[in-house]
Amino acid sequence: MGNSAPRSIGKAEGKLGVLCVGLGAVASTFIAGVELVRRGITKPYGSLTQMATIRLGKRTENRAPLINEFVPLARLDDLVFTAWDPVPDDAYRSCLHCGVFDKHEHVAPIRDFLEAIKPMPAAFDQAYVKRLEGTNVKRGKNKRELAEQLRQDIRDFKAKSGVARCVMVWCASTEIYIVPGPAHENLAVFEKAMEANDPSIAPSMLYAWAALMEGVPFANGAPNLTCDIGAITQLARDKALPIGGKDFKTGQTMIKTVLAPMFKARMLGVAGWYSTNILGNRDGEILDDPESFKTKEESKLGVLEFILQPKLYPELYGKLYHKVRINYYPPRGDNKEGWDNIDIFGWCGYPMQIKVDFLCRDSILAAPLVLDLALFFDLAQRAGMSGVQEWLSFYFKSPQTTPGLYPEHDLFIQHTKLKNTLRWMMGEQVITHLGQDYEPD
Ligand SMILES: NC(=O)c1ccc[n+]([C@@H]2O[C@H](COP(=O)([O-])OP(=O)(O)OC[C@H]3O[C@@H](n4cnc5c(N)ncnc54)[C@H](O)[C@@H]3O)[C@@H](O)[C@H]2O)c1
Repeated sequence: MGNSAPRSIGKAEGKLGVLCVGLGAVASTFIAGVELVRRGITKPYGSLTQMATIRLGKRTENRAPLINEFVPLARLDDLVFTAWDPVPDDAYRSCLHCGVFDKHEHVAPIRDFLEAIKPMPAAFDQAYVKRLEGTNVKRGKNKRELAEQLRQDIRDFKAKSGVARCVMVWCASTEIYIVPGPAHENLAVFEKAMEANDPSIAPSMLYAWAALMEGVPFANGAPNLTCDIGAITQLARDKALPIGGKDFKTGQTMIKTVLAPMFKARMLGVAGWYSTNILGNRDGEILDDPESFKTKEESKLGVLEFILQPKLYPELYGKLYHKVRINYYPPRGDNKEGWDNIDIFGWCGYPMQIKVDFLCRDSILAAPLVLDLALFFDLAQRAGMSGVQEWLSFYFKSPQTTPGLYPEHDLFIQHTKLKNTLRWMMGEQVITHLGQDYEPD
């Protein structure tokens, strides 16, 4: 859409359907959390769309509305949820199974609401998620048929719930590592490959295709290739719909994309960065399979290379040894512990170390990202912004870019880009932080 700001942004009228692929820890924590906020039981901590303000104009103007007062976002009360999952647990069972929320304080009060969200049969194939067995699955003679069934699900949901618009967010498992191949190149070959049951077409791609075919934006919260292929980007452009991913940026990578820019800004060298995690939820179990881990590893490894630019700064970062491990450790459940050991060096080459021990809660960090992505993708659609939504890189470990561009990983550049995009959309001045116009003549 070039540089010109959207002429007008459609109002957020009517209900917004949020279609979650997967009803595991992240999706159930997101859905339950929204309902808890709607009932006034808690606050939407961690969500920019609900809590952040945006500065407009000069610092002297004192204009800083809430983002959701500035741009026309769907309201929490207007969200309606549905999901697919090969595991038949409804959202209540899923919350209990995942153990993220306190059963008495946060699950029991919304039991009826959660029990009503039952997963639709999934387009699932264990060949792509080895450590998962599912019974609630679709049957069809080929992948195209499964994808057509997903389209029908979307149409049925729209008709039954009366939503005005929908967005789809992939909150399902990490699939095995797949590289872009001939079957992904364009829409025509992709559709043929679905019919031929080509193994390079993963289930996640069927959801992305079905979403776009039904006029629904698609956001990818896992590191899967999914919508980062020619066929899907082409379809998104043809249908004028937003897409983007990949992999929610939550714990360790969020910290990495804050610390690494600091080292580079101060021209401090980095000799090594060792990151390890223990995690005991189903995601951890799935990532224990080397093929799914490979997909995650690729997504986690890329960030330092792009931020530190070893080719530009060979003396500082040319020899950096970067290692990422994820270890499945059931006693911790969803409460991940992520350690980072960073070996840095400064003036005259003297070495120093930084240790980070982040005792985080995986789904508590991810849930507000799902909310923001759902609301911003819906906004982007109403603003006529189609194709890859790079301005939402803030939310992703491995941001999808327009082909030919490298991704921006620095969390605060991403944050500035996001807010400037909102200003630009609404016809406000973007903020450069130059500040010269405050100086007396
Ligand atoms: N902080 C975080 O939690 C975080 C951060 C970044 C990315 N992610 C990614 O988000 C995803 C969800 O994480 P989680 O902790 O909720 O995992 P989870 O295992 O609790 O939930 C994933 C759900 O997806 C379902 N699923 C698998 N294949 C499916 C398919 N083809 N169709 C529909 N459903 C399917 C599984 O049955 C499971 O219930 C994972 O890919 C994870 O790597 C999570």
